[in-house]
Amino acid sequence: MWTAQIICLYLSFKFNSAASILRSGTCQLQGRFRLNGMYQAGDVILGGLFEVHFLTVFPELSFRTDVYCLCEFAQMFFQQAQTMVFAIDEINKNPDLLPNITLGYQLYDNCVMLGMAFRAALSLVSGTEVSFSNLNCTGPPPVIGIVGDSNSTPSIAISSVLGLFRVPIVSYFATCSCLSNRKKYPSFFRTIPSDAFQVRAMIKILKHFGWTWVGLVYSDDDYGNHAAQSFLQDIQVFGGCVAFSEILPLDNNRKYIQHTVGVIQASTARVVVVFSTSTYLLPLMDEVVLQNVTDRQWIASEAWATSPVFHTQRLLPFLGGTLGIAIRRGEIQGLHEFLLHLRPNNDQRNNMVRIFWENMFKCRFNIEGRGEKMCSGQEDLSNTDTAYTDVSELRASYNVYKTVYSLAHALHDLMQCVLTLDEEALYWNFETKKVINITC
Ligand SMILES: *[C@@H]1O[C@H](CO)[C@@H](O)[C@H](O)[C@H]1NC(C)=O
Ligand SMILES: *[C@@H]1O[C@H](CO)[C@@H](O)[C@H](O)[C@H]1NC(C)=O
Ligand SMILES: *[C@@H]1O[C@H](CO)[C@@H](O)[C@H](O)[C@H]1NC(C)=O
Repeated sequence: MWTAQIICLYLSFKFNSAASILRSGTCQLQGRFRLNGMYQAGDVILGGLFEVHFLTVFPELSFRTDVYCLCEFAQMFFQQAQTMVFAIDEINKNPDLLPNITLGYQLYDNCVMLGMAFRAALSLVSGTEVSFSNLNCTGPPPVIGIVGDSNSTPSIAISSVLGLFRVPIVSYFATCSCLSNRKKYPSFFRTIPSDAFQVRAMIKILKHFGWTWVGLVYSDDDYGNHAAQSFLQDIQVFGGCVAFSEILPLDNNRKYIQHTVGVIQASTARVVVVFSTSTYLLPLMDEVVLQNVTDRQWIASEAWATSPVFHTQRLLPFLGGTLGIAIRRGEIQGLHEFLLHLRPNNDQRNNMVRIFWENMFKCRFNIEGRGEKMCSGQEDLSNTDTAYTDVSELRASYNVYKTVYSLAHALHDLMQCVLTLDEEALYWNFETKKVINITC
């Protein structure tokens, strides 16, 4: 259903991205990445980037060896990925939205690594074949838009490159105010508010309680750095003072974290504002428990305020009473049943489901060592009770749902458009061999 033009555009992008020309007409990818993913065919494919694993081990990125995710599986984030699958399923069943068009998907795990997220994004628009000599402009339909990335730093990197090709990227969780720059990121959109609003809300909370002497902790990424910067500016305006300002390392550097907890412990500021994702904050909280830092009023940014990894008995004495900014919660009819009906299959492109299954039922599909339980694939999800099946707090998942619908509606509207010539809009090129004006 796509004209040769758009597919050629996608092929030429293949050459420019992660491939090197070995001999004329044949390209070879550099290095091998094992991307965990989920796939379903369709007329039009939506890409997705999800943080299905969060980091506990920090692998070395290299083009000489295979790189894989050596981290912990996150049930809650897998629910977000499945919510995208659910939304696509719902749209495909809806006769009024994108009639005669089947949406497919290709989802990847970003593994909270910039290199991994970036490679996954390039794979979405250029494919994963190790080599290809198909220069006649045929092949699978291209990914027309991307749901993700969840974090700000990879969203910036991905939008900087894919923005040149005007691939729409709609994030459900990246809040960095820097991403609002339309000149720099022309094809980036999001279904979550910018941090500019969050910082204002936090200052209001501080004002309300008359807390003027506070500590600040933030992750050393674009999210943390930008939020901290606006916070430092805004708190001066309101007349508050920052007792300390500490950066969380992007690796598990224990010495550094001990130092940070020492600063929190020694300070007279009882209120600690933290801008960080769960991954980078978890090592700090482990140290808070070890050093028994109690009596602190934590103020949580949206990225960790509702994260279940902090809702544990062990952390409760330290984090109980935390105030946080949460993103809006929503209800999604039918999602719970959908989540329970998931089944793994043998398709390698759906290995993310198999990893989830092994993690959920503590079994293996390919038994290697002794004492391992074999997965049958028939285990019953309705007997489980984890963050994956919990639909009482649909926040990021609800944003994912809205993101998929926004892309579907945009595509739907484009297809209703009157066809006019406009070079800007080469992406939207259908059977008609005419160019659709995106602005109509
Ligand atoms: C969908 O396809 C059918 C059969 O090809 C056609 O009759 C109908 O007009 C199409 N609908 C739209 C909205 O394109
Ligand atoms: C395009 O090229 C591929 C591989 O080079 C070949 O298998 C296929 O038949 C070709 N398709 C057309 C339409 O020429
Ligand atoms: C931790 O601190 C609290 C309050 O300061 C104290 O009551 C408790 O005994 C301490 N626990 C340990 C294990 O030191």
